[in-house]
Amino acid sequence: MHDPADRVANTSGNRSFDDVLRVDRQRRRLIAGGLGATAAAFVGLPPRAAHATIGEPPVTFRAVPVSTEDTVHVPEGYVAEVLFAWGDPVSNGPAFAQDASQSAEDQALQAGMHHDGMHYFPLPPDPGERNRGLLAVNHEYTDDGLLHPDGMKTWTAAKVRKSQMAHGVSIIEIRQRGDRRWEVVRPSRHARRITAATPMRLSGPAAGHERLRTAADPDGSRVLGTLNNCSNGWTPWGTYLTCEENFYAYFVNRGRIPADQQRYGITANGFGYRWHEHDDRFDAAAHPNEPNRFGWVVEIDPFDPDSVPVKRTALGRISHEGAVPAIARDGRVVVYLGDDQRNEYLYKFVSRGRYDPEGGRANRDLLDEGTLYVARFDDDGTGRWIPLVHGGNGLTPEHGFRDQAEVLIRTRQAADRVGATMMDRPEWIAVQPGTGHVYCSLTNNNHRGGTTGNAPDGTTRSGSARPPVDAANPRPDNVFGHIVRWREDRDDASATTFAWDVFVQCGDPGSADPARRGNVQGDQFANPDGLWFDPDGRLWIETDISSRELGIGEFAVMGNNAMLCADPATGLVHRFLTGPRGCEITGLTQPQDQRTLFVNIQHPGESPDGRSDPDHPKAVSAWPDGTAGGRPRSATLAIRREDDGIIGT
Ligand code: FEO
Ligand code: CA
Ligand code: CA
Ligand code: CA
Repeated sequence: MHDPADRVANTSGNRSFDDVLRVDRQRRRLIAGGLGATAAAFVGLPPRAAHATIGEPPVTFRAVPVSTEDTVHVPEGYVAEVLFAWGDPVSNGPAFAQDASQSAEDQALQAGMHHDGMHYFPLPPDPGERNRGLLAVNHEYTDDGLLHPDGMKTWTAAKVRKSQMAHGVSIIEIRQRGDRRWEVVRPSRHARRITAATPMRLSGPAAGHERLRTAADPDGSRVLGTLNNCSNGWTPWGTYLTCEENFYAYFVNRGRIPADQQRYGITANGFGYRWHEHDDRFDAAAHPNEPNRFGWVVEIDPFDPDSVPVKRTALGRISHEGAVPAIARDGRVVVYLGDDQRNEYLYKFVSRGRYDPEGGRANRDLLDEGTLYVARFDDDGTGRWIPLVHGGNGLTPEHGFRDQAEVLIRTRQAADRVGATMMDRPEWIAVQPGTGHVYCSLTNNNHRGGTTGNAPDGTTRSGSARPPVDAANPRPDNVFGHIVRWREDRDDASATTFAWDVFVQCGDPGSADPARRGNVQGDQFANPDGLWFDPDGRLWIETDISSRELGIGEFAVMGNNAMLCADPATGLVHRFLTGPRGCEITGLTQPQDQRTLFVNIQHPGESPDGRSDPDHPKAVSAWPDGTAGGRPRSATLAIRREDDGIIGT
């Protein structure tokens, strides 16, 4: 199928003449220094230029200022409309109850909570429509203070069930009418909710392994549900990838917590979900293998509402942020993967088989066989992808890896062992169209600058590790975050070596502390999270300053979370959108005509402890329903230009 994503993933196909010109100019700029595949291929940020607008790709919008208002601001000439908010039915189904009194069964037919990554899949429009497509939207987690009328004052099996139904993914059918407004198609034969209880299949090298077997699933092949679906990916063959991030937060273990559970963050008391009190499988002492069945990338066919989602174990088990594709020169599929915890790693998967653009369903299992690599960033500006293959690099039985399945189920331990580089919380990854250069947000890290890093033999490591700074993670107390980028050798996504540099260090240029100033050219920002290239090569950056820090102390100058647009060639950054109070900005996708940008507003009104007070649900934000509404709601925005132009130009 044709999709804007194809143009990102496959540099050889379907480019317009303009695209080719632009790519050639970018290549010339990179090659201008006479540089091969070395660190110098990136010349770093040019000196600060006095540009009024970003030069190339052209940006003509007038940047919006920092905001602390409880609303969405976009540039003059743009409109942002709410398309799909928590509690809206995905098809025929009950409307949102303003007091959150809908049942678990109702919630299972409605948008879940906390919209995150998403992707647009085009369908043929009907006569009179501008566009029609499917939107797959992740629902990352729940704020049970908002989810139930009385929050968590009482706790019941029905509340656990409702929380589970508010997790997962929505597939909705949407259309853009002749008047250019977007709406959800109801009813829709495609619409679907995938929840924390939807049956799924495990596939790939770890499927069926004894560490994945439970009393309920003695074959280790079938799992109920997906959890903490954060960022996402897509494939050239038209499927959606949803990524299980902080799955450990749903489990508790009141017994002796095995090292393998500790390494993934499982604790005695959990993180406030209290599912284990009414759903035994989240008791990790009673069901020690159940957590092993989460932390995967899940592939979903959005076009078939009866399809069984598949957990692709070949892509490893981590706190998966996103899963972003590229196509290697020989046609193999590459997926870039980040593990979003302090001092975790960056990965990529390279398939064994090749993508066949004419292959249709024959491509469907490409993510089941291949090699998972973890990144090592060396201080000379080069880097190496280290294979996590059983038998090599110490991934042997004497180190606790009896087979490849154990390497994948214990991906973090395998990466520890091979000397990967501990990063400042890898969030989203974006592949630049045309060049194949890869950008990754490193959102922050307050656990760096010590001496207790990963031992080279890496058998054990605790969350209190405080590694020294390195060139790729250069700040000891990286409160504002940065973006790193790399160029694969031979410009081939399957290469095992690369050159890298730091694209930008975020910060407050007015800070008295030089380490806090950063080097952003243009509009300041902090804590980059969402990252996405549009087909013209604009780099969109979404921020996630945590609600513990938003508006406070050295973060006050940043205002509410925002979305910005960067020119990768010059480094110039312009603020495009500011969100309502207490939210983060996430999710980014676009139909092929580039005349709409879908963006998610997540957790408007979030309180510093992440659990709202049901008696004062609008204490921080009343977005999007305002005073008439009962509770703040995460929502998908459709952003357009009043003159129907391409977004960002
Ligand atoms: Fe769910 Fe790392 O953000
Ligand atoms: Ca994120
Ligand atoms: Ca977040
Ligand atoms: Ca984040």
